[in-house]
Amino acid sequence: MPRQSIFHWQFNICSKSKVRGLSLKVFKTKKEVLKYSRKSAAKGKSIGLVPTMGFLHDGHISLVKMAKKKSDRVIVSIFVNPTQFGDPSDLEKYPRNMEADLAMLKAAKVNAVFAPEIDEVYDKEAQTIVETTKLSRIMMGKIRPGHFRGVSTIVTKLFNICQPDLAFFGEKDYQQLQVIKRMVKDLDMPIKIVGVPTMREKDGLAMSSRNVRLTKANRKAATVLSRSLFEVEKICANQNMTTTKLDKIIRQIISKEPKAEIKGVDIKDAESLGTVKGIVKQPVVAMLAVQFGDIMLIDQRVFTPKIAL
Ligand code: PAF
Repeated sequence: MPRQSIFHWQFNICSKSKVRGLSLKVFKTKKEVLKYSRKSAAKGKSIGLVPTMGFLHDGHISLVKMAKKKSDRVIVSIFVNPTQFGDPSDLEKYPRNMEADLAMLKAAKVNAVFAPEIDEVYDKEAQTIVETTKLSRIMMGKIRPGHFRGVSTIVTKLFNICQPDLAFFGEKDYQQLQVIKRMVKDLDMPIKIVGVPTMREKDGLAMSSRNVRLTKANRKAATVLSRSLFEVEKICANQNMTTTKLDKIIRQIISKEPKAEIKGVDIKDAESLGTVKGIVKQPVVAMLAVQFGDIMLIDQRVFTPKIAL
């Protein structure tokens, strides 16, 4: 359904938490969603949480589908979290469309949405943060200092507020997924974290809420990310390679695209995100951060070298 054509209809959903004939519950307060979660638990229903920052696309819907498969009830949170944005203009420009989001979630048959305002989430006097001390400071953490601290803090708060049994995150944000897995393990959170494979447009571009902000020319140029990843995956499947060589090949491919400015290329152990020395013998993840105009896109691919097959 085109996003615009459903605008008026959605507004009705948005204005009430439960509209007659519609089963999508939209909670604005922590108290309401916690009550819903506790009631579900009392009935023996497992809760799957899909945390999002809204402006939903098919990538988010694939998380919802996985959550529906693995849990009895699905809550989707929509909250553009200010503490994970370094640059205030990036936060301001982050695309939002609550009405279209709610329509998509209703169509996807989620049970409940948690869409709080900032004041509901962050106390003005708040002084507690959650941070993974190593994983949050490498790679994307260097490019966007403080980003993962903001992510782990909000995700912890969402876990406490929504009390899920399972939580679903896209593999596209691979470092984020590893940060959250580490945090859940370190803090003994009784929640199963499920990573969901990246959804791609027909031309290979990883789906992202940021894509709509690309100019037409940059949108076309951005396909270089997936092309470079697929290329090294192919090479790695056929030849013995070091991460240094793979890194060089990715950089060469991306550098041929004049609109792309490389911010980071990292090839790491797929599980620990540690450095891989010598010939690659284990599954590795290649993670890219590339700037197109004023938009930074990320992408990733996990692949297994020939030698490990
Ligand atoms: O991946 C995102 O959209 C955000 O980082 C998350 C996990 C919803 C936290 O704000």
